[in-house]
Parts: sequence; structure tokens; C-alpha cells
Amino acid sequence: MDKLVVTGGRPLVGRVRISGAKNAALPLMAACLLTRGKNRLTNVPGLRDVRTMGRLLDTLGAKNHTRKDRIYIDTAEARGEEAPYELVKTMRASVLALGPLVARRGRARVSLPGGCAIGERPIDQHLKGLEAMGTKIVLEEGYVVAEAKRLKGAEISLDLVTVTGTENLVMAACLAKGTSVIKNAAREPEVVDLCQALINAGARISGAGTATITVEGVDELSPLDHRVMPDRIEAGTYMVAAGITRGELTITEAPLEHLSAVVGKLKEAGVRFQQTPKGLVVSARRAPKPVNLITGPYPGFPTDLQAQLMALMALNNGSAVVQETIFENRFMHVPELRRLGADIEVTGSTAVVKGVRQLKGAKVMATDLRASACLVLAALAAEGDTHISRVYHLDRGYEKIDQKLGAAGAKVRRASEPAPGKK
Ligand code: EPU
Repeated sequence: MDKLVVTGGRPLVGRVRISGAKNAALPLMAACLLTRGKNRLTNVPGLRDVRTMGRLLDTLGAKNHTRKDRIYIDTAEARGEEAPYELVKTMRASVLALGPLVARRGRARVSLPGGCAIGERPIDQHLKGLEAMGTKIVLEEGYVVAEAKRLKGAEISLDLVTVTGTENLVMAACLAKGTSVIKNAAREPEVVDLCQALINAGARISGAGTATITVEGVDELSPLDHRVMPDRIEAGTYMVAAGITRGELTITEAPLEHLSAVVGKLKEAGVRFQQTPKGLVVSARRAPKPVNLITGPYPGFPTDLQAQLMALMALNNGSAVVQETIFENRFMHVPELRRLGADIEVTGSTAVVKGVRQLKGAKVMATDLRASACLVLAALAAEGDTHISRVYHLDRGYEKIDQKLGAAGAKVRRASEPAPGKK
């Protein structure tokens, strides 16, 4: 197992290019299962989750290969129906195969994802929507078995805003007979990116980016040919990196139009932004001012950047309140930040972060992807060395993070760590 060793205390100065978005690439890869033929996705990030989705497509018979930032997915012979436990347990987004498989093959057997480090994360809304479209669903031996001859368009009111739930239902509705209306749909930019790719392949979708998405089913779609949108969460993470190290990063391909809530909060904290011909220059000179934040579905403040903002707030010159409303257990980074000297109290879904003047390096453990990013950020600002173990979490969602940070002057190295119990 790899760990990262970060020697903190140096301002980051340099350029960072933002990669394609993980959470757009994964549903787009699954959407290829709706088609028959040769799909092409470009600007795909080189990430562990993308490779896992590639393996899932392989097991379903969709041959795929990667060349640089492109993935070619051939679905001509894709006849498989099963997303096995071994893959779903390593990546919940495997559940995105469910909608396309039922719609295109009439049958899917997808392992139930189960809980994970950030919460229980059920998929009842995905199932409710598919049932409304005429799918027969049974749960057997930890698997969802879904069957339908041809899906029928339906009106579906989601009980809560779910990103992959909306994506699964939009994908299924594309090949249903008749019109589907998905109410209380997720408005996340990744949902819009997926819908745009599907529209270009012949789907009839309107309302993407609003709370009501209407899909008129068609008989078939052509293969996808789409450039994945840039990763707003990666961009937000590097913005915090500039702020927390009081450095100056020129960020290229940052999807600013999708980051209003984040940029707003960072500006409140004193981080400066300037659009230049070379990219977006993000800088800070002083300790951050305290800002309170509440996570929410898009266009609210993204839960996927809550941990990173908390790292910044650990050094604020007052006291800040951070409230998590999307996942019930997304404060796993708090005890680790405390090991670096942060002063944070958690009550239920609220954390009160009293700023400290300085964080100090320590050994910490990453528990999930965004918690890992938070620890890297805190480590960049901390005095001395921080050893972050279980860095595989980071590799799921941040392309070449050690190289990107290194190019901006950070001292970050990968080291192997003996497995627990071994010397
Ligand atoms: N929920 C239900 N029932 C459902 C679906 C969701 O109760 O059927 C609940 C969840 O338990 C959660 C809330 O609804 O409390 C929102 O979950 P959502 O379904 O929107 O999350 P997701 O689709 O599983 C995606 C991202 C996550 C991101 C969330 C929220 C992908 C592949 N994953 O997950 O990304 O945090 O939306 O924005 O798009 C990450 O990248 O680190 C990550 C966790």
C-alpha cells in the first residue's frame, strides 16, 4: 500500500491543468451500454474508478481500451447482465449500469452497493423510478435483479435529490416507450453533461439542469462521441490548495461557471481570483477569514468539497461553522485533522472549527476520497512532515495529484507502506 509524505509549509506557485470529471466520465461510460457500436469519450481522467468502470464494461462484454485521455468502448457484443459484488464493492458508481442494462437488455443483475465510509447510501430511488417504468425488481442474495420487456415512460417524483439516481433513470428513459418526466431531478453539471452526450446520440431529453427532466423514448441511440467536462471538484480542491498555502496557482480548464458557490465562499475567506489570458489565477496572502457553509445539492455548496474547505477553515482567524446535509457520516476527516492540531467540535451534522495559527505534521489515515484530499491540503500548510496512509482513495479521484502539486513546488512523495501486521 502506498502512502504520501508531504513536507508542508511552502506556498504553491505554478500552473495546474484540471482533468476531465470523474463523476461525469463514470455515467458516460455506463451510458455506452445503451448503444450498439463504437463509442468514444475524450478528456477522460486517468483514475482508478475509471479503470474499475472499464473492468465492469469488460465483464459485460463491452470491449474497451484507453489511449491517452481517450476511451474507446465497443458495445456491439455487449451481452452481459451482471455487475458483480467484487466490482460494486470497490466502486458504488457501478450501480450506473443498472438503468442502461434494463433498458437495452431487458435484464440486469447488479450487486447492492451497501453502506460506505460516508453513509448508508441506499438506492431505493433508482429502484422506485425503474419500477414506475414497468421493471420487475427482486432482491436476491445481495443482488438487485431487474427485468422488463420494454420500459414504459412514466412520471417519477423523486423523494430526494439523487445524482446517480437521476442519471440511471434518464438513461433508462431514453429507450423506454413513451415519455418520462423525472421530477425533483438532480441539477448537477455532470447530469447535464450526460444528457448532452445522449442528446447528441439521438436521445430526446429536455430540462437537463432543471428540477424536471423530460425524456421522450426512442428505439435506439447511436454510439456516443463526447468530450468529458472538466472536474469542478478537482478545480475547487486546487483553489483551496492555493488559499491554504498562501500561494498563487494559475488554474487552466477550471469550469468556473459550475463553481459559483465555491468561489463565493473562498472569496469570503479572502482568497483572490483573477481571470488572465493564461488561466484563472487563485492566490491568498493571509490567514483565511472564517466562513460558515452548508452543503446542498447543486447549485448549493458541493458535499464533495466540504472536507477541503474544512481544512482551510482549520487555519481561519476566528470560528467557522460547517454543516453537512447530504451524507450522514461525512466528517471522518475531523479526527485526522485534529491529529494535525486542528480545533474542531462535531455535534451531529455540524462542525465548529476554531482556527489555529499553525498545523503540525503527523501520521494520518485517509478514509475516503475527499477526506484524503482534505488531509493533503492540510498537510501542505502544516509545519513538518505528514504521512498520509491509504492513498489509494486519492487515486480513485485525483489524476496525478502528486505530480500536479509537485510541479507547483509542493514537496510530496509516494512511499510504500508495509501492510498492517507486517514489518
Ligand atoms: N439517497 C437515498 N436513496 C437513493 C439515492 C440517494 O436515500 O436512492 C441519498 C444518499 O444516501 C445521500 C443523498 O441521497 O444521502 C444524495 O446521494 P446521491 O444519490 O446524490 O449520491 P450519489 O449519486 O451516490 C454522487 C457522486 C458523489 C457525490 C454525490 C452528491 C458520483 C459517481 N458520485 O453520488 O461523489 O458526493 O453524488 O453530490 O457521481 C465523490 O466523488 O467523492 C463522491 C462521493
